[in-house]
Amino acid sequence: MRLSPSETQTLVQRTAREFAERVVRPLAADIDAKARIPDAVVRGLGELGLLAVNVSPDVGGAGAGAVAYALAVQEIARACASTAVTMSVTNMVGEAITHFGTPAQARHYVADLARGDAGLGCFALSEAGAGSDPGAMTTTARRDGSHGGDWVLDGAKQWISGGSAARVFIVWARTRPIEAASKGISCFLVDGNAAGLRVGRPEDKMGVRGSSTVPLEFSGCRVPASAMLGAENEGFKIAMMALDGGRIGISSQAIGIARAALEESVRYAKDRRTFGAPIAEHQAIKWKLADMQTRIEAAHLLSMRAAWMKETGRAFSREAAIAKLFASESAIAVCNDAVQIHGGYGYTRDFAAERHLRDARVTTIYEGTSEIQRLVIARSALA
Ligand code: CAA
Repeated sequence: MRLSPSETQTLVQRTAREFAERVVRPLAADIDAKARIPDAVVRGLGELGLLAVNVSPDVGGAGAGAVAYALAVQEIARACASTAVTMSVTNMVGEAITHFGTPAQARHYVADLARGDAGLGCFALSEAGAGSDPGAMTTTARRDGSHGGDWVLDGAKQWISGGSAARVFIVWARTRPIEAASKGISCFLVDGNAAGLRVGRPEDKMGVRGSSTVPLEFSGCRVPASAMLGAENEGFKIAMMALDGGRIGISSQAIGIARAALEESVRYAKDRRTFGAPIAEHQAIKWKLADMQTRIEAAHLLSMRAAWMKETGRAFSREAAIAKLFASESAIAVCNDAVQIHGGYGYTRDFAAERHLRDARVTTIYEGTSEIQRLVIARSALA
């Protein structure tokens, strides 16, 4: 594994950093307060190739690989966690359609997603009673033989990121009875404005407030036979493989948030004085800063390793789970220390430290909780 980025990876990282600093960071507090990412920000990501970093140029992607993608998500998350998860999920959906879909499906959806001007890519797997255990989902897809093999979807999904502005949802539904568990699930591409699909009111969340999180209701939602992604009853594995890559994205998001929290803490610690000296001179603060930096560097290396393994075609489920587990738990610890270093000010909206802590909190929950990552890692250790 190369420890220094290639020319292409450096270029993508610089591009993301420049956009993050110039456009995204100045809007981040407003995105959080108004719970909305301006369309121009998503379009800007699209113009720079950041919505399909690891997708082939044949279908509108940047073709820059998984490491470049991970570096870019970090840079965007350093400025705004909501924008980073929006970017990350759209990349995950574009990659899944390209990888598992037909050329026609990829042509139809992925160029739109990559441009960022037609709506987002969304991942509709979880349900109210099936989050960590998606094999227990109850949304169904029934084939309607009288209509040329259309599929009719009924049921409900929950916690769908970006769903208020979806171009396309990847929807998982049962095509065999519940007893078939993970072996009876198929995957469908459903347009954001499909008849029979109702997108619910966004949740009022603690963090990543700019990225909507919505419930979906499918009531006789009819899609053509050509909407199936991959093979019938093979949908669970598509979800698992997409989430392996998604977890690299969330580890990168967590690292980006933690980097911002550390940088702001360093600035504050040099400026704020107690007992006749900047608090950066006190050992109590120095040790915190050292621990924060160490966690970030370790998380970065784990995330880069998982991305490199993905990029070079190696199995990387375990490495992605390790990176996500460590980066997300580290981000919460780092952001918590950042609030502590800022003292009373850290507990107010006058400083970004409290936003970083709220934003970091979800990274141990979505795309597989820390408990699920531990399960994946332990299964591999025991295999
Ligand atoms: N890659 C390929 N195949 C995989 C796989 C992987 N990573 N993981 C499992 N599979 C395959 C297995 O090999 C098995 O195949 P066979 O039937 O041929 O043997 C099949 O899938 C079933 O696997 P398991 O028996 O291991 O399945 P399980 O029911 O025990 O679940 C789990 C395993 C890891 C716990 C899984 O359920 C899981 O990851 N849960 C968490 C789900 C999750 O992350 N949800 C996040 C929601 S999406 C989100 O948050 C997005 C967003 O909007 C931000």
